[in-house]
Amino acid sequence: MGNSLNCVNCHLDAGRLADSAPLWGAYGMYPAYRAKTKNVDTIENRMQGCFMYSMNGKAPAVDAPEMKALVVYMYWMATGAPVGKNLPGRIYPVLKNPPRAPSWEAGQLVFEKNCQICHGKNGEGQYTNGQAVFPPLWGEKSYNWGAGMHRVNTAAGFIKANMPLSQGGQLSDQDAWDVAYYINSQVRPKDPRQTATIEEAVKKFHEENCNYGKEIHGTKLGL
Ligand code: HEC
Ligand code: HEC
Repeated sequence: MGNSLNCVNCHLDAGRLADSAPLWGAYGMYPAYRAKTKNVDTIENRMQGCFMYSMNGKAPAVDAPEMKALVVYMYWMATGAPVGKNLPGRIYPVLKNPPRAPSWEAGQLVFEKNCQICHGKNGEGQYTNGQAVFPPLWGEKSYNWGAGMHRVNTAAGFIKANMPLSQGGQLSDQDAWDVAYYINSQVRPKDPRQTATIEEAVKKFHEENCNYGKEIHGTKLGL
């Protein structure tokens, strides 16, 4: 792992919580074609993605003991669940586009009011004995520019359902979009798929709902 995050930070309650990409919802949906990899991904391949991007680390091999343990855990959680059926509560809720385009300034206000107390003024999180008690939202110790959470729509869905912690559903959709835009307009580790220029990587890997490669408040994102 290349950052201070753990799987549970985004897959809440040990991967059990509906609307926070629960692992029981995932298990029966793979193998599946994914546009991101342009490949038919097995459940192991899908998790390798989270290791490389969300955790900014190196993915264990498909037959590594850690991978086997994760697959066994998911299989157990999905006991009795149908295969190939998109169960209610899988992944994060999809929010409709907000009434007004998401804004940095509005997002900063939402952040200061609702998030900063746990995640820190600069999104750096809070640590005890080197362990993140409140995970970072941006900076070197956070998810990288290849992670699903860097997409403003994906983060907005997660935040609306789950944040502030244990008070999910309280923010308006607009607030969730604004704060998602704000945290995803900050500096974070490089997209590991970027081999040449940012512009080339933008074309290849980044579409809408994403600020990678843009200059926001004087910072070019992705460098
Ligand atoms: C920074 C947040 C974050 C972290 C940390 C993270 N993930 Fe994910 N994970 C995501 C997002 C975002 C998705 C895609 C959700 C979506 O499509 O809306 C996802 C998707 C998945 C899926 C597929 C879900 C489905 O229903 O298709 C699995 C399985 C998964 N992650 C496992 C893991 C494991 C195992 C770890 C730890 C090694 C991990 N994740 C760490 C954010 C994270
Ligand atoms: C009461 C403390 C608290 C507040 C307030 C809070 N969070 Fe969190 N947040 C957490 C904790 C703790 C986790 C990790 C959950 C876990 O591991 O079970 C988390 C996880 C996250 C994650 C996924 C992990 C990561 O670091 O990327 C995001 C994104 C996030 N919070 C955004 C927000 C936003 C945006 C707000 C304000 C609207 C907010 N949080 C308010 C405690 C809080």
